Amino acid sequence: MATTLVTGGTVVSSTGAVPMDVLVDGERIASLHVPGGAPAGAVEGARVVDATGCYVVPGGIDVHTHMELPFGGTSASDTFATGTAAAAWGGTTTIVDFAVQTPGQDVEAQLAAWQAKAEGQCAIDYGLHMILGGVDDAALKAMDTLVAHEGVTSFKLFTAYPGVFYSDDGQVLRAMQVARENGAMIMMHAENGIAIDVLAAQAAARGDLAPVQHGLTRPPVLEGEATNRVIALAEVAGETPVYFVHLSATQALEAVARARDAGRNVFAETCPQYLYLTLEDQLGSPGEGGFEGAKWVASPPLRSKHESHRADLWKGLRTDDLAIVSTDHCPFCFADQKSLGRDDFRKIPNGMGGVEHRMDLVYQGVVEGRLSLERWVETCSTTPARMFGMYPAKGVIAPGSDADLVVYDPAARTRISVETHHMNLDHSSWEGFEVDGGVRTVLSRGEVVVDAGSSSLRAGHGRFVRRGLSSYLR
Ligand code: URP
Ligand code: ZN
Ligand code: ZN
Repeated sequence: MATTLVTGGTVVSSTGAVPMDVLVDGERIASLHVPGGAPAGAVEGARVVDATGCYVVPGGIDVHTHMELPFGGTSASDTFATGTAAAAWGGTTTIVDFAVQTPGQDVEAQLAAWQAKAEGQCAIDYGLHMILGGVDDAALKAMDTLVAHEGVTSFKLFTAYPGVFYSDDGQVLRAMQVARENGAMIMMHAENGIAIDVLAAQAAARGDLAPVQHGLTRPPVLEGEATNRVIALAEVAGETPVYFVHLSATQALEAVARARDAGRNVFAETCPQYLYLTLEDQLGSPGEGGFEGAKWVASPPLRSKHESHRADLWKGLRTDDLAIVSTDHCPFCFADQKSLGRDDFRKIPNGMGGVEHRMDLVYQGVVEGRLSLERWVETCSTTPARMFGMYPAKGVIAPGSDADLVVYDPAARTRISVETHHMNLDHSSWEGFEVDGGVRTVLSRGEVVVDAGSSSLRAGHGRFVRRGLSSYLR
């Protein structure tokens, strides 16, 4: 197979940035060399990728995406084919998506159904978590099978969305007890869905039906409450590791930080939308006859700019109380999907698209002095690989690791727009955002799939990643 030399760049890892050439042999990284130091025999005939002036970073890993997710009477608009291609354009070379089980469904059959959706479609490597929306005896038993035999080692449960994915405290506790035994990671969507449904029904009864009500009826204190409760349940279960997804609120972050300070196995991610966007400026947008805010309806909701959430989340990323930035990519088109809730915010499908923009948006945090270069790599690639059992095949530039590489140009400028993005989405949550830096070249398992604005991305190049247990278990 082909040899490739990525030369002239600065290799960035979670611990430092050093000028290095990277020699790729086939699908793997063969060796790293001081600039120009690769043996002549090894590079003869190699394809050369010029990374002069650029950073060379391990391919991004987005551990929270929802291609084709059925939700609210429709399905997320990106397929595994379109969504993974868009991810690659943005420097992400691995996603971990979610298979879905709901009450009465067989977990293994549902996993097989999701495998069938993804197989042969993905442009980059992919893994699967399992959503358990119907925790019963059979589902609990299947958790062991998935961990032992299927390379699916993490399970998402919800204290939100009653009647859809919701688990009560007893179901959460029972799943945690199983995970404690088999080493799986419990991922939690922590909002108090029962209380939220009461507030939402009351708003609707008053005639308050605009998209902003989605945010006003999901106050941050109900994310904090659910986060605290889940942490207590994990303790009762015998210190099950728990990972909070799409954390958005100061109150939830404080609960995570307290648990971590006490030495608990508690981890969390946030998403770019919670770092940048707000309830007032986006969700409360007056455009499109007061309905434009539907573009930003996701759960948890965007938080108020008059509170400290965004600053606290950036701080949490610096201090490691937030370990990972994922996207929670779950796109719905405005024209024919978000519009299902034109007359009632409760019917707007929940989710927004952003799998293509995560690396750029977090890099902007580096440019603005909020994060170090190393922490960018750590939160977007290395920790995701370690947290979800993919390290050292993924998440690091080291001999023997998969040659998933991004040549990132700090001198570029990226303007985000529906006119230029590759997601199957009729609008952009980030329309008009301009950021410094940009992806120049992407290698996925040794193959150059994006280079200087053109691509050779193809469905079926991506392989299923069978994951092991988290490296962070104590
Ligand atoms: O609004 C969201 N986040 N939609 C996707 C499903 C989930 O809760 O992650
Ligand atoms: Zn969720
Ligand atoms: Zn999600």
